[in-house]
Amino acid sequence: MMFDIEAVAASFPGRLLLWLDSTDSTMLDAARLAEGGAPSGSLIGAEEQTAGQGRHGHSWHSPPGTGLYFSQVLRLHLPAHETPIVTMALGVAVAEAITQATGLAVDLRWPNDVMLNGRKAVGILVQQNNDALITGIGINVNQESFPPGIGSIATSLRIANGGRPVPREALLLQLLPAIDRTLEVLTAQGKDAILRLFSQASSYVSGRRVVVEQGDRQLRGTTDGMDENGFLMLREDNGTRTRILAGGVRPV
Ligand code: BTN
Repeated sequence: MMFDIEAVAASFPGRLLLWLDSTDSTMLDAARLAEGGAPSGSLIGAEEQTAGQGRHGHSWHSPPGTGLYFSQVLRLHLPAHETPIVTMALGVAVAEAITQATGLAVDLRWPNDVMLNGRKAVGILVQQNNDALITGIGINVNQESFPPGIGSIATSLRIANGGRPVPREALLLQLLPAIDRTLEVLTAQGKDAILRLFSQASSYVSGRRVVVEQGDRQLRGTTDGMDENGFLMLREDNGTRTRILAGGVRPV
């Protein structure tokens, strides 16, 4: 069934909320909205993306009618080096909203994957566009299966929910206020508050045995918290404490 954006919009009077049948990527749509002066919080989503963007040049599988794919324009006036914290703040908000809407236990894999039963259910992307941030959240909601390339690492809320479908509107109704609240925590209290919330919601930040892919090297060790900028600290098996600057963290 087509997403009922009106049912969501009724709870957010005055906010620009747009929903398309099909688009290449909501990241591009939101960038255009930002360039046209759209206010912070404006949202554009789509039933389907034909060129959904993932991190590191990957694509994001966005089949019609089953997922929640949307972007927002944010004007937060944060220093550019805090953009990674925005991604983590969004992860905290998504985890909270999924648990509220479904009761499912959610984990956050550093730095910004939302996991259900050890598989990725959500992807989050944040890009700078002149004076605005463009965020993108892709949630696998009602997919019942995935293409071969991602079949062993992806899951959906429906699969984690024993096959029972999850209404996408109810999820977005929880998620939008959760995003607003978490970003308010970031702008009012600063990045430490987000890092604390992230650590509380993630089993990856401390005491987790992991392998980290660093180009053609693999580091093995136990996670040992985050530094003040949200980078993961790894106590390597050889005793060295190493700062991890980018993802590719998996449990062993
Ligand atoms: C990741 O690689 O984990 C990030 C994936 C982000 C996907 C979302 S779906 C909505 C928005 N539009 C896009 O093209 N990408 C983001």
